Amino acid sequence: MEDFYADLAQKLEKLHAEHLFREFKSVAGPLSEWVEIKGKRLLNLSSNNYLGIAGHPLLRTAASQAVQQLGCGSTSARLIAGNYELYDQAEKDLARFKDTEAALIFNSGYTANLGIISTLADRGDIILSDNTNHASIIDGIRLSGADLLRFKHTDMGDLERCLQKAAGYRHKLIITDSVFSMDGDLAPLPAIVELKDKYKAALMIDEAHGGGIFGENGRGLAEYYGVSHRVEITMGTLGKAFGCFGAYVAGRKILIDYLRNKTRSFIYTTGLPPSVLASVQAALQVVQQEKWRREGVLAKAAWVRNELAEAGFKLLDSQSQIIPILIGDNTATVEFSRRLFDENILAVAIRPPTVPLNAARLRLTVMATHSNEELAGAVQHLKQIGRELGII
Ligand SMILES: Cc1ncc(COP(=O)(O)O)c(C=O)c1O
Repeated sequence: MEDFYADLAQKLEKLHAEHLFREFKSVAGPLSEWVEIKGKRLLNLSSNNYLGIAGHPLLRTAASQAVQQLGCGSTSARLIAGNYELYDQAEKDLARFKDTEAALIFNSGYTANLGIISTLADRGDIILSDNTNHASIIDGIRLSGADLLRFKHTDMGDLERCLQKAAGYRHKLIITDSVFSMDGDLAPLPAIVELKDKYKAALMIDEAHGGGIFGENGRGLAEYYGVSHRVEITMGTLGKAFGCFGAYVAGRKILIDYLRNKTRSFIYTTGLPPSVLASVQAALQVVQQEKWRREGVLAKAAWVRNELAEAGFKLLDSQSQIIPILIGDNTATVEFSRRLFDENILAVAIRPPTVPLNAARLRLTVMATHSNEELAGAVQHLKQIGRELGII
C-alpha cells in the first residue's frame, strides 16, 4: 500500500508545484452579495446566485414547510418509492415555464448531462460538440460510446465542416452550452439551428447559465433568440440562477418518456429531498414575477464589463453576467485573487483543467442584487491591483 500513497503524494506535489492545488474556502453564513470567509466579509463576485434568490423568503418558506410536512429525504429512487407528488408538480411547472410538452428533474446538472447524452447517443452515432463545452457534457459524450467531432468554439464554418464529415452516421447530435460557463459568451443559436436543419442533426443545449437570465420570460438564451421550438433537447440547472439545486431536461413528451425509462444516472439514484422540490416551484414563480432581477443583472454586468474593457483588461467575448478577466499565468491569477481577497473581494482564480492551459482567469459574476456602489468599488480595486500587477 505504501506505493499507492507514495504515488498520490507525488501527484499532489506536482499540483502544488504548478500552482494547481485546490482547497476549500469555507463560507460562514448565507451565500449572497457578501460572504464571510475566515472571519472576513467579502463582496461575492464568484457565485452563480445571479438573481440573488437563493435566500428569497418565498424559497425559504416553501423549503421549510416541505421539511415540516414531509421530512428531509426521499430515501428511495423515483421509480421505486421516492417520487413525491411535489416532483410531478415541479415538473409540470417546469414544462409550463419552458413552454415544452414535458420535463424531467435530475439530481444535478452533472448527472443530467452524463445521463442524457449517454442515453441518446450510442456507438454508430456522432456527436458534434463545441470545444468549450462544460466538463459534464464531455464526460457524457465519453460514456455514450458515440464518435466525436469537436468544432472550434462558436465557429459556424467549422461546425458546418464537421457536419459534412459526419455524413453517413445514423444519428448526428450537436451539443452546446448556451451561455459558456467560463467565458460568458453566447452560442450563436440561430445559426446553429439553421445548420442542424440543413444537415438533419438533432440539437441539445445546456442552459445552465442562460436559464433565468435571458429571454422575455427568463426561459433562457433559446427564448432570447426565438429558437426554443427548434431545439430538440434542452437541459438546464436549478442550482445557479434559480438558487435551489438539481437540474432538468425539457422537450417533447416522447423524449422525456424515453429518458425516464433509460437514463441510468436518473434511474439508479435517490430522489431529491422534498425541500428542494418545493423551493424549485417557488423559484420558478419568483423568476417569472420578478423580471427586474434578470434585467438588472444584465445591465449591471454590462456596466462592469464596459469599465473593465476600457481599463484594458482582456474579457474574451463575454456578453452575459459572467465576466472573465483573462490573465493566462496560474501564479499571477492566484496572486490577483489573493490581493482582491485582502481588499474584501471574493474573485476566485480559475485554472486548468477547468480552462485551457495558459488561460487562467478570474471569473467574475455579477448579481442582480449587488448595488451600483458595491460594483463601482470592486471595479476600482480591480483596476488598481491590475495596474500594480502589470496586467493592464
Ligand atoms: C454549463 C454547465 N452545465 C452543467 C453544470 C453542472 O451543473 P450542476 O452544478 O447542477 O451539477 C454546470 C455547473 O457547473 C455548468 O456550468
